[in-house]
This record gives sequence, structure tokens and C-alpha cells, in this order.
Amino acid sequence: MAHDELISTTAAFVRERLRHDSSGHDWWHIDRVRRNASCLARQEGADVLVCELAALLHDVADWKFHGGDETAGPRAAREWLQSQSAEPAVIDAVCDIIARVSFKGAGVATDMPTLEGRCVQDADRLDAIGAIGIARAFAFGGHFGRPMYDPEHPPEWHPSFEAYKQKSGPTINHFYEKLLLLKDRMQTATGRRLAEQRHRVLEEFLAQFFAEWNGPG
Ligand code: ADP
Ligand code: NI
Repeated sequence: MAHDELISTTAAFVRERLRHDSSGHDWWHIDRVRRNASCLARQEGADVLVCELAALLHDVADWKFHGGDETAGPRAAREWLQSQSAEPAVIDAVCDIIARVSFKGAGVATDMPTLEGRCVQDADRLDAIGAIGIARAFAFGGHFGRPMYDPEHPPEWHPSFEAYKQKSGPTINHFYEKLLLLKDRMQTATGRRLAEQRHRVLEEFLAQFFAEWNGPG
């Protein structure tokens, strides 16, 4: 199958699968990550097909929606790509990225050995910060019934993926537990540059949020 056709059939498959999502993992998240990944891949000289396929398939069976099972994502991606007779080397590269891409806790290093993986991870992380990142965090919190903020429930430092998986705190805590950490964990020069401004939007939002929370008195 030609590369363009594989990309378009994969996009249609993912769009259909994520049609009903309201947790910030909907098709338009995937579309933004794919466009960011494609842009980073061209800037950084990575393989564009692998980056676009990994971006398209990266949340198709996310552990957050599969009882914490982090093998569900790469497995679903492999089944799909095999059904489309994609090249085995492309399938392996894409599934390896999907297995590694997720944030796994403040204290956990996410090893990403390939340039393609670094482009996709940065693209996914760019969509977790800035104005869109703020909107997604509250969409996720609402979807899972989390409080918006609770001053009696401080943020936590998660030393392991297991601890991170079990967290259920307020959405504002997620900013300290993940979102504000992403800028310094970007892995490409382009990603680092794009993250700067989006990071400032998070900081400005939090300053305003707490100013309003504390009131004028
Ligand atoms: P990752 O695979 O790194 O987790 P995703 O593309 O799945 O990235 O997006 C994760 C996004 O979901 C977060 O950036 C945030 O917007 C939202 N999210 C995940 N966990 C929480 C949480 N506990 N509270 C609020 N938002 C969350
Ligand atoms: Ni994602």
C-alpha cells in the first residue's frame, strides 16, 4: 500500500474509534499531534511516515482507558498495521514509540531511543501544555469526576509508574505533577522552542487562578 494511502486509511480508522471521546483524547487531539509530529519530523530530519503513523495511533488504546494496561496500545496499533500489510520494520518502529510515549510520573525517566520517537513524544507533550493543554486537563478531570482544585490536597511526586497510574487528585495538581515539568523534558530543539511560550501560558493561568481563588481581600 502506498504511504499516503496507509496514512489516510489509518486516520479514518482512528477518527472512527475516538469519535465519542470527551476526555481530551478525541480525534482532534490526534490530528494536532500528527501535524506537530510531521512538522517536528521535517525540522529534525526524522522519518515522516513512522512519525505520522505513531502520532495517529498513539492513543488508540491508551492505558488510562484500559485499566492501566500499557500493552493495549501497542497491541491495537500492531493489529491495525498488520491488517493493512504495512512493512514489518515500520510496524516495529511505530509500536515501540507507542509503548514508550506516555508520561509515567515525575520521578520516572521515559527513555526514547529513536529520533522519530522523540518527535512524536514532543508533539504529544506540546498538546498537553499551553491553552489547549489547560482545556484538555479540565476536560479529563471532568470526565473522570475529579475535583477542579482542593487546597487541602497538595500535589504529589510520583516515584513510579504504578504510583502515577493510581493518582486521582484534583486537576490543578496535575499541572504540578506533570504539565509544568514537560518544558524541561522536551527532546528535540524544535519541541523545546515551541514549549517555551506554551509553558508561560500555564504559569500565567495558574497565577490568575490563585489570584481569583484567594480573592481581592
Ligand atoms: P500521555 O500519554 O503522556 O499521558 P496523552 O496524550 O494521553 O499523554 O494526554 C494526557 C493528557 O490527559 C494530559 O496532558 C492531561 O491533559 C490529561 N490528563 C491525564 N491525567 C490527568 C489528570 N490526572 N488530571 C487532569 N488531566 C489529566
Ligand atoms: Ni496523546
